[in-house]
Amino acid sequence: MNHDPMQNELARAVSLIHSAENIACLTGAGVSVESGLATFRDTRTGAWTNVDPEKYASQKGFVASPGDVWRWYMKRYNEMSRAQPNAGHIALAELEILVPNFTIVTQNVDDLHERAGSRYVLHLHGSICRYRCNGCRRTYDLSVEERSASLPPMCPRCFDFIRPDIVWFEEHLPTGILDMALRMTRECNVMLVAGTSGVVYPAGEFPTTAKQNGAAIIEINPETTAVTGMADVSLRGPSGVILPQIIAQLKKVITQSVAGVQTS
Ligand code: OAD
Repeated sequence: MNHDPMQNELARAVSLIHSAENIACLTGAGVSVESGLATFRDTRTGAWTNVDPEKYASQKGFVASPGDVWRWYMKRYNEMSRAQPNAGHIALAELEILVPNFTIVTQNVDDLHERAGSRYVLHLHGSICRYRCNGCRRTYDLSVEERSASLPPMCPRCFDFIRPDIVWFEEHLPTGILDMALRMTRECNVMLVAGTSGVVYPAGEFPTTAKQNGAAIIEINPETTAVTGMADVSLRGPSGVILPQIIAQLKKVITQSVAGVQTS
């Protein structure tokens, strides 16, 4: 037994992951911090600390100030498209290859999981890289000029404004995605919860649902959160540091178990 509590927690996490058939990983804004993107609720840099979410993440806010909301999201789009996947994103893409069934359920609207190489990613809150009409929901590809305009482009079919395909407060999550995420939540043996405060419904309830259905919860976060109390393993630190450590140890355990099978 190691006397470093962190190493013990890491070993427990690796053992749970190694013996799991189905793993779900719930991610939030924290996993993109080491790519240079701010979270929502950081007391200094958080998006919702610096702007009013009522204005920038609601139908009412968009209708009242379409230009302000559009410019804010396009600034975020530019930041997110310049950002690069960090070591945490890359570790999760590797994990998908190392275990039997692995799905990321993300609240993030960036595409850093996909750019790191993850193939099974459910975007609960939509994507800042897609656009749709606010009225008829028709989807659009936009040019750089349209994205840099001071007002959102208009839908030529119904003359409503086009908006980022992101779920705002009081809007429904995409049904098919939510159903798949709930299925993964109920069926997983292990749920990794990385970089989320766990305070936004319904994603914030997924760890509870997973736990009620028998899964072990492994939290990766520098801070304690709403999830910490139910976590079987809490790994305190940035996901860009902790997730690569998990992968490195998991590879050792897999190598040892393969060597054990070959010599027995
Ligand atoms: P929050 O801002 O609520 O929480 C971010 C979490 O990341 C916090 O728990 C931090 O402690 C943690 N964190 C900070 N740095 C980290 C690091 N380097 N590694 C790992 N974790 C770190 O963001 P979310 O939980 O993603 O919804 O917020 C959920 C939803 O609230 C968002 O999807 C967004 C927002 O309203 C919509 O826009 C629809």
